[in-house]
Amino acid sequence: MSAAAPTPGADDANPAAGIDPQTGHQTSPGAPPAAAPDAGSCGPVEVVRLGVDDVAVFRALRLAAMTRSPDAFNSTYGEELAKPDAWYAERLAEDGVFAAGGRTQPQGMVGVRRYPTAKARHKAWLYGLFVAPEARGRGVGQALVQAALSHAAGEVDVELVLLTVVTGNAPAIALYERMGFEAYGVEPRAMKTPDGTYYDDLLMARPVP
Ligand SMILES: CC(C)(COP(=O)(O)OP(=O)(O)OC[C@H]1O[C@@H](n2cnc3c(N)ncnc32)[C@H](O)[C@@H]1OP(=O)(O)O)[C@@H](O)C(=O)NCCC(=O)NCCS
Repeated sequence: MSAAAPTPGADDANPAAGIDPQTGHQTSPGAPPAAAPDAGSCGPVEVVRLGVDDVAVFRALRLAAMTRSPDAFNSTYGEELAKPDAWYAERLAEDGVFAAGGRTQPQGMVGVRRYPTAKARHKAWLYGLFVAPEARGRGVGQALVQAALSHAAGEVDVELVLLTVVTGNAPAIALYERMGFEAYGVEPRAMKTPDGTYYDDLLMARPVP
């Protein structure tokens, strides 16, 4: 891990802070307000689809997710950092990748990828859902999942969206259930951290549209 990596768990409650699209670090408390909803606002959440020119934004969001919610994802900060720009560009070209709060100070992301093989093209995979801690509890996660579902529903013949979530991740499971996903199984020991801790994954699915 880079020496400049943000400290896991070093979150604060500054609602104006966002994610620096160059580094994935949280921006300073003095930074200009982000385009995401104001504290206490019930206004619409800005969600944009990222394109192939948004590699830096995508990478920054992935780095922020691995740093600030490391137990929620299979990947690690180091693995995300090591991926070449071409990896991110390919995902942006092929998948629906959405950012909340605009590109300047994005506050969250989600991706949805259609299975590429002939007999699985009726399914899509939702991945990488993350909202910066200071932006949570205001509907940003819901808006991101909705964008991913709408994208999947817009793809010809996609019938089902699948995802996995760590069984102990109550906020994420509650959000997915609110958005119509149902659990259909558990993968035991789906993830093993370097200290030897295992995490089970809940398998969830939802038909689209
Ligand atoms: C899971 C996660 C994405 C949820 O993001 P979020 O932006 O907080 O989600 P939402 O705001 O849409 O919903 C969270 C809560 O806010 C409430 N809420 C939604 N819109 C709201 C609004 N306009 N005003 C106030 N509250 C609102 C929801 O009812 C929900 O309430 P609950 O606590 O009773 O469940 C976020 O916690 C996260 O990034 N976690 C770490 C990464 C992770 O676990 N990702 C999933 C990997 S599978």
